[in-house]
Amino acid sequence: MTSLGRLEKKHAILTGANGGIGLAVAAAYLHEGALCTVADLPAEPSAELALLMSQHPETLIYLPTNVTQSASVTLMIDRASQAFGPVDTFFNNAGVFDMAPLLESDEAMYQRLFDVNVKGMFFTMQKILAQMCNSGTRGSVINMASQAGRRGEALVSHYCATKAAVISYTQSAALAMAPFGIRVNAISPGVVDTPMWGHVDALFARYEGLKLGEKKIAVGKEVPLGRMGVPGEVAGAAVFLACAESAYITAQTLNVDGGNVMS
Ligand SMILES: NC(=O)c1ccc[n+]([C@@H]2O[C@H](COP(=O)([O-])OP(=O)(O)OC[C@H]3O[C@@H](n4cnc5c(N)ncnc54)[C@H](O)[C@@H]3O)[C@@H](O)[C@H]2O)c1
Repeated sequence: MTSLGRLEKKHAILTGANGGIGLAVAAAYLHEGALCTVADLPAEPSAELALLMSQHPETLIYLPTNVTQSASVTLMIDRASQAFGPVDTFFNNAGVFDMAPLLESDEAMYQRLFDVNVKGMFFTMQKILAQMCNSGTRGSVINMASQAGRRGEALVSHYCATKAAVISYTQSAALAMAPFGIRVNAISPGVVDTPMWGHVDALFARYEGLKLGEKKIAVGKEVPLGRMGVPGEVAGAAVFLACAESAYITAQTLNVDGGNVMS
């Protein structure tokens, strides 16, 4: 595919992009000419990310980061900015999943999910927005929500609540940042075939008495377009919301879900 250069020389930070959706978005941003910083938990990049780095030695760096730790995030933003300058685009994607019947959904699960999906999501965004305000960058933030944030699920209460919080923080941040010309939107995927879904499938197998792989087939069939999405299908929306083509769009949560949720 020919690059349109829609993000030429723009600096994008992507959290949780060592694999899955984030990695596909990093590849798409690089294809559009961006300078990319990937921030994720492991000390070393995954084999897939390392391959992408070997193809883009000047324009892609990896910084091990824990989004739940303020000092780790500050260091990551400082190093990224030293490498590629002020941040233009933030793909706020790091997330974790867990589930259990409501009466068994304990505080430890609540803490872990809210630490990453809400606290990490919000305070990493806050630090990057502060930099955008200070540097006068009319940037774009894209938060990773989920169809789980649109509607509760009996077995998935904590995760659903974290993603509802992402949608709400997106709206508040968009209003706060509009006077600075900074846009804040979210993407709400449905079911996307990533490493996370292997984990989701195993949990549904445990709680619904299914065979491994059965839930994945079932959720795919329920999608109006008839199948699960693949990570690259989220990347188009992530490029659109990052670039000038979406200059008049803010405070929105865009469904990328094969028709599961209608708005
Ligand atoms: N796959 C789906 O069907 C789906 C649907 C809706 C929303 N989402 C959301 O999309 C995002 C990406 O998910 P994915 O499916 O690509 O899964 P994934 O597990 O491949 O990616 C999540 C990434 O977040 C990273 N991460 C976790 N905790 C972190 C921390 N404390 N600091 C930094 N990084 C951390 C993980 O290491 C991982 O690389 C998540 O926010 C997820 O909730 C996924």
